Amino acid sequence: MSRREPYLASRLQGFGTTIFAEMSALAVETGSINLGQGFPDTDGPHEVLDAAVDAIRNGKNQYPPGPGIPELRDAIARHQQHWYSLEYDADTEVLVTAGATEAIAASLLSLCELGDEVVTFEPYYDSYAACIAMAGAQRRVVQLQPPDYSFDVDALAAAFSPRTRLVLLNSPHNPTGKVFSRAELEAVARLCVEHDVLAVTDEVYEHLVFDGEHVPLATLPGMRERTVTISSGGKTFSCTGWKVGWVCARPDLVSAVRTAKQFLTYVNAGPFQHGIAAGLDLPDSTFRSLAAELREKRDRLSRGLADAGLIVFASHGTYFVTTDIRSLGEHDGLAFCRSLPERCGVVAVPNVVFYDDRSAGLPLVRFAFCKRLDVIDEAVARLKALRT
Ligand SMILES: Cc1ncc(COP(=O)(O)O)c(C=O)c1O
Repeated sequence: MSRREPYLASRLQGFGTTIFAEMSALAVETGSINLGQGFPDTDGPHEVLDAAVDAIRNGKNQYPPGPGIPELRDAIARHQQHWYSLEYDADTEVLVTAGATEAIAASLLSLCELGDEVVTFEPYYDSYAACIAMAGAQRRVVQLQPPDYSFDVDALAAAFSPRTRLVLLNSPHNPTGKVFSRAELEAVARLCVEHDVLAVTDEVYEHLVFDGEHVPLATLPGMRERTVTISSGGKTFSCTGWKVGWVCARPDLVSAVRTAKQFLTYVNAGPFQHGIAAGLDLPDSTFRSLAAELREKRDRLSRGLADAGLIVFASHGTYFVTTDIRSLGEHDGLAFCRSLPERCGVVAVPNVVFYDDRSAGLPLVRFAFCKRLDVIDEAVARLKALRT
């Protein structure tokens, strides 16, 4: 047998183990507080958990239907209508996926031809670059600039070309905590319409907004028919391990995404789909109190990081806040994160992994605040050692 090394296909070279796996392993190894990976350390609403347990106990343990259980698709359609006045047909315009991760992968794999271009913003959630590469497409990146992570509309316009197939947008935005304003989204929408391209929007943090409002791109003029809206129950209901996500779009786009999705996982998370269906129908007050709890955690951690001597960029949504370590006289976020467990017993994530322009991301470090207040307090106490 002939050997051909490296075995990893060229389009995936450069995508090693994700930084989250490396940093979470480091947290376990050193017994550190893990403010790296974005998962909560408490459970979400009991109604959500109870519905999944009931489903397991009541024989809902086999393959669910390919597009997702009808109860969940109906609940997703009701949710879009209730929160955003967006109408989707639960049978033809909603597809349940294995988390937002599969929805992103299936969208890119099904909608992009080899050599198409995908416009996205950096820093970007790390699966975007890998999925664009797996689809054989090219990314064209527009930079979000701290402290407010705004972008230059001319730079965005310049990123479009005749090869642009779609814009891949994430709001509320990981890792920055930016919530794109209506005016910014209107600029994105205008360009999509002008160039007649699709948009894929990742809105997994849609209910975790602390300042301002979440505006789904699909609500803007000309966007309902050209937007694939992606979300997931994991972040909203603190059950990131369930991996129940979804896609809402017009029927031919959903049908395209389903074509790829059915050969990735086919289906997943049968009983958990019942849990998320119950969650989406919870009263507005539940969603608001989940966001309010998280806002308090954001405030507590942001203050603590500033007290530890870091520059803190305001986070308006998500689980995350970004800091700049140059105020500590340091400049390499990757080295900083690798040394942080030993120095302080805390784990964070270097934002450089979310950038093409490594120099822009190098001094930035992301901390997750989706942890119990006592855990955040302990982390803040430990991080005071950075000042000494
Ligand atoms: C921006 C963004 N998109 C997608 C995901 C993945 O979502 P899921 O766990 O539903 O696959 C995450 C998880 O961290 C995320 O931050």
